[in-house]
Amino acid sequence: MKQPKDFFKPLAIGAPEPYRDLPVALERMIHFFPPHIEKMRAKVPAMIENVDVLLGNLEDAIPVDAKDAARQGFIDVAKATDFGQTGLWTRINCLNSPWILDDVTEVVGAVGNKLDVVMVPKVEGPWDIHYLDQLLAQLEARHGVQKPIMIHAILETAQGVKNVEDIAAASPRMHGMSLGPADLAASRGMKTTRVGGGHPFYGVLADVKDGEDDATRVLYQQDLWHYTVAKMVDACVSNGIKAFYGPFGDFADSAACKAQFRNAFLMGCVGAWSLHPQQIDLAKEVFSPDVDEVLFAKRILDAMPDGSGAVMLDGKMQDDATWKQAKVIVDLARLVAQKDPVRGAAYGF
Ligand code: GLV
Ligand code: MG
Repeated sequence: MKQPKDFFKPLAIGAPEPYRDLPVALERMIHFFPPHIEKMRAKVPAMIENVDVLLGNLEDAIPVDAKDAARQGFIDVAKATDFGQTGLWTRINCLNSPWILDDVTEVVGAVGNKLDVVMVPKVEGPWDIHYLDQLLAQLEARHGVQKPIMIHAILETAQGVKNVEDIAAASPRMHGMSLGPADLAASRGMKTTRVGGGHPFYGVLADVKDGEDDATRVLYQQDLWHYTVAKMVDACVSNGIKAFYGPFGDFADSAACKAQFRNAFLMGCVGAWSLHPQQIDLAKEVFSPDVDEVLFAKRILDAMPDGSGAVMLDGKMQDDATWKQAKVIVDLARLVAQKDPVRGAAYGF
C-alpha cells in the first residue's frame, strides 16, 4: 500500500504538485463538441460565454477514420482560443484502444497548460487511473506543465461500478466521475437501447383497487439509474470529488432530460453532459439552485450566524444540519452568480 505521505508527491520529477483540494469551478454542464468538424470548431469562441465546460470529444461518436483529425482539431482550437474561466476538457479514447497514447501525448505536449481535465472512458478499476496518473505526470514534467491536469472517469462498466470507491480514491488527480448509461447498459446486459432516462417497462405495479382489473392498474415508472447514481455520489463525495450525470440521448424529449438531470441534482450531482445546444439551458436551469431555495437558505444563514443552536423560520425548525444544507445552496448560488449575472441578481447577490 502507498504511504500516506507519498500520496501528494508528484509522480515525476518536475511535474506540478498534486492538488489537495479541487479547484473551485462551476461545472453545471460539460458541453461536448466533435473537434474534427470545422464548422463545430468555428463555433467554439462564441460558446465559451454560454457554457461552464467545453469538451473536445475524441472517443465514441468520432468515426475511426476521423480520430487523428479530431485530435488535431482539438489541439488547434485549444491553441487558438482564450477560454477564460470556462473549463477546457477532452475525452480521450479508452485505455485499450490504439489511439489513447497519441491522444494523451500529443494533446498534453501541445496544450497541456490550457487543459483542465482529461475524461477517461470505460474505467474498470484504480489500476486504470494509476496508469494515466503516471503518464500525465511524465508528460507534465517533459512539457513544463504548470498545474496538474485532472482525471475524470466515466462510470460505464459493471466492473467500474463494483470498484467505484477505489476509483474515486485512486489519486489526488481525480476530479470526479460521470455516469455513462449507454455503455453501462451494454456492459451489464440491461435490456434497453436508450441513452439514459427511464424505461416504460421498469416500474412498480400498484395493487388492484376496488373496481379495477389488471388493465386499469397503474404502473409507476421508476428510475433505472437511481442505484448507480447514488453509489457514484457516495464514492465521489466521500473522497472530495464531484459526481455528474452523463448523456441524455433523446434530444426531442426535453422534459424527460430535465427530469433525469433534476433527479441527479437532487441526489448530489453537480452537473451533466450536454450533447445538444438546447441541453445547455436545461442544465443551467436544473443545476443552478432554485431562487426561492436560495432566498430561504440565505435567511437560515442570517438567522444563525455561527451555525449553532436552533431557530424557527416560517414554522420550520432550523438547526446546524439545516444550516449546512443552506450553506451548500448559498455557496453554489454565489458561484452561479459569478458566471450568470441575471441569476445572480435574482439570488440577491
Ligand atoms: C457515455 O459515454 C455512455 O456510454 O453513456
Ligand atoms: Mg460511453
